[in-house]
Amino acid sequence: MTIIDGKATADIIKKEIAAEVEQMVNSGAKRPHLAAVLIGHDGGSETYVKNKILACQACGFESSLVRFEDDVTEAELLACIDRLNRDERVDGFIVQLPLPRHINKQRVIEAIDHRKDVDGFHPINVGRTALGLPCFLSATPMGILELLKRYNIEMTGKKCVVLGRSNIVGKPMSQLMMQKEHGDTTVTVCHSHSRNIADECRQADILIAAIGMPGYVTADMVKPGAVVIDVGTTRVPDASRPSGFRLSGDVQFDEVAPLCSAISPVPGGVGPMTICMLMLNTLAAAKGIYYEK
Ligand code: GUN
Repeated sequence: MTIIDGKATADIIKKEIAAEVEQMVNSGAKRPHLAAVLIGHDGGSETYVKNKILACQACGFESSLVRFEDDVTEAELLACIDRLNRDERVDGFIVQLPLPRHINKQRVIEAIDHRKDVDGFHPINVGRTALGLPCFLSATPMGILELLKRYNIEMTGKKCVVLGRSNIVGKPMSQLMMQKEHGDTTVTVCHSHSRNIADECRQADILIAAIGMPGYVTADMVKPGAVVIDVGTTRVPDASRPSGFRLSGDVQFDEVAPLCSAISPVPGGVGPMTICMLMLNTLAAAKGIYYEK
């Protein structure tokens, strides 16, 4: 059984990016620049944004952080997005989710210039993803594909089950796993109203769990020899930790791992890859790969 080490893979990719950035800078280009917009003080969002800024440093990128309090108005946020859209020093930016309830998330996402939408959340990037056209891919599914490729997991013609149908993970993941250029697998998507989920999972050669329910996938749901990718990152209380919580995946790792040919752990699996793919998207934005600058 192989443990799919997302942390080590992400470290390798960040070194590859840093080497490319130094070459770019030596030949006169400016450093790629990622901006992040953070609203409020949600613990998870604070941690994600901090890690994104640290990843920028590891890759030799410039970064900037724009902070608002929870009571920011939608108009103020849209004005900030407009400024970032027009700021030529910024190659790409993200607005960290979730947003306060009084702000319309979809309006915010659609206000971002799709050429700077390194999260890949704008409908143009989502649509281009579905069509298999070059664009910024949503970072988590992109990171999972990268792990599957770097670990030489055979995909063509295999049966893939995706648990979850979110806009950020389940939907793009299932599309990419279906596409000839990416997974080239036969895909089933299960969600909260699916019947016989355990039976579906047992058919999977590749099982991707992205439902945010700690320990949902148990040994009886996994076919021996399957590849299991755990996207769950739910904070569960843990008094033995200084932070008071630990991250829990969607998979009962201890009982499922012995059955698998390969499995990604939580933490240290998909999470580090997601941030790393944001860096790759920012590099692509700086180079004008998908959209002319
Ligand atoms: N919140 C949770 N995941 C993400 C992400 O990938 N991007 C942004 N902007 N917010 C998130």
